[in-house]
Amino acid sequence: MHVRESMHGSWTSRWAFILAATGAVVGLGNIWTFPYTIGMNGGGAFVLVYLACLILIGVPIMIAALALGRRARHSPVNSMFTLAIESGHSDIWRYLGFVCVFASLLFLSYYSVISGWAIYYAFLTGSGQFTGITSAGVKARFFNFIQDPVYLLMFHTLFMMMTMYVVSVGVRGGLEKAAKIMVPVLLVLLVVLDLYAFNTNSFAKAFEFLLDPDFSRLSWEAVLIAMEHAFFTLSLGMGVIMVYGAYMPQRVSITQSSLSVAGIDTLVTLLVGLAVFPLIFSGGLKATSGTDLLFLNLPLAFGQLHWSVLFGTLFYLMIIFAAWTSSIALLEPAVAWLIENHGFKRFKATFFAGTIVWALGIFTVFSFNKWQFRFSLFGHIHQNGFFDVFDQLTTKIMLPLAGILIALFAGWFMSREASRDELEMHDWLYASWRFLVRYISPFAMLVVFLTSIGVIKLS
Ligand code: TRP
Repeated sequence: MHVRESMHGSWTSRWAFILAATGAVVGLGNIWTFPYTIGMNGGGAFVLVYLACLILIGVPIMIAALALGRRARHSPVNSMFTLAIESGHSDIWRYLGFVCVFASLLFLSYYSVISGWAIYYAFLTGSGQFTGITSAGVKARFFNFIQDPVYLLMFHTLFMMMTMYVVSVGVRGGLEKAAKIMVPVLLVLLVVLDLYAFNTNSFAKAFEFLLDPDFSRLSWEAVLIAMEHAFFTLSLGMGVIMVYGAYMPQRVSITQSSLSVAGIDTLVTLLVGLAVFPLIFSGGLKATSGTDLLFLNLPLAFGQLHWSVLFGTLFYLMIIFAAWTSSIALLEPAVAWLIENHGFKRFKATFFAGTIVWALGIFTVFSFNKWQFRFSLFGHIHQNGFFDVFDQLTTKIMLPLAGILIALFAGWFMSREASRDELEMHDWLYASWRFLVRYISPFAMLVVFLTSIGVIKLS
């Protein structure tokens, strides 16, 4: 068996890895898109399709990314380089690492701006600003806020500083410790919010919306959404899982921990749905997603409930933790690369990468006010300038392409001995995984990609 060492350190145990990876995969998507998507596409029926997509597409690619990272034990760029050379292929594969790192930085630049909004909303809720507020009131608050670039920049800066602080401390003292504190706290907050929601008069309605299977709503489009989300929710295609794999102790099982992480992620989404929709329905509002849900309808719903100052604040705190543990993961691939290739100390590397991301974030800050523009792409109209450009570029183009290539590399280019060694699976399991990453996952991601850019039309 062939074992390299990571110069950045490693997770202390299997649980440390599971918590760190859970921190990376549980993010805004679990809160503001996915519960709504489940509810709108057939509830329990959609959950079944989604679980199948996790097993056939998401988890195999996650296993592939972890195996690549752990085998090479470097940043994504150097891991791809090392493994391509080791298996006798062209070092051009390292550009896949660059694509991942570039995507992670671009993605973080706008993720941070939105996460900053949650900080502001935690303050607003905590100081009782939403108590008894009207629909016009929440709208005015939100639009005044996003029209003020100074405010947006302030919270984006604060959030980036929080992210950079953790990453600058290092793998064990920073990333691992943050996850060990924040992930359990997040889970406890979630359960507390579920209990709060359980006491409203709309829990049953929310339960039905989220979980009652309605097979008539399952369409091909829903299947595609499930495939895309199974990939996105596991934070694949940005080098994050690969670099977290590089820090994984050799004795930890990649397969078992991937399944645990995917399972916790799914559970979190369902628990979020059961916490959020009872509040929304009890306020007489419709289920929505995105900024509408987080910054308009939820404050409005909270404003009408008892104890909302306390529970509303806990809710935004939960969002901040979810976003924070994802953001530190997003900065790590670039930081690891700067340390390896440019001899930077971790502090300097974090400062450098973080500052670039912060500066890129300014484009998003101005997307909601001074530089707002509309454009149409792949058949959809987008309202918010650069924010939407970055979002489309990363999630619709770079991520699926990187996902396809990671699966193909692990399935076709990495030697059988190397992946076997790293995965240590039973024969039948290994054969199934290899079949999935060779044929099924790349094909599924290709279909997702071609549909999202409008080459394949469903109806
Ligand atoms: N999985 C995250 C979510 O559900 C979003 C995400 C996608 C992400 N790719 C990532 C987070 C890479 C961290 C790193 O919201």
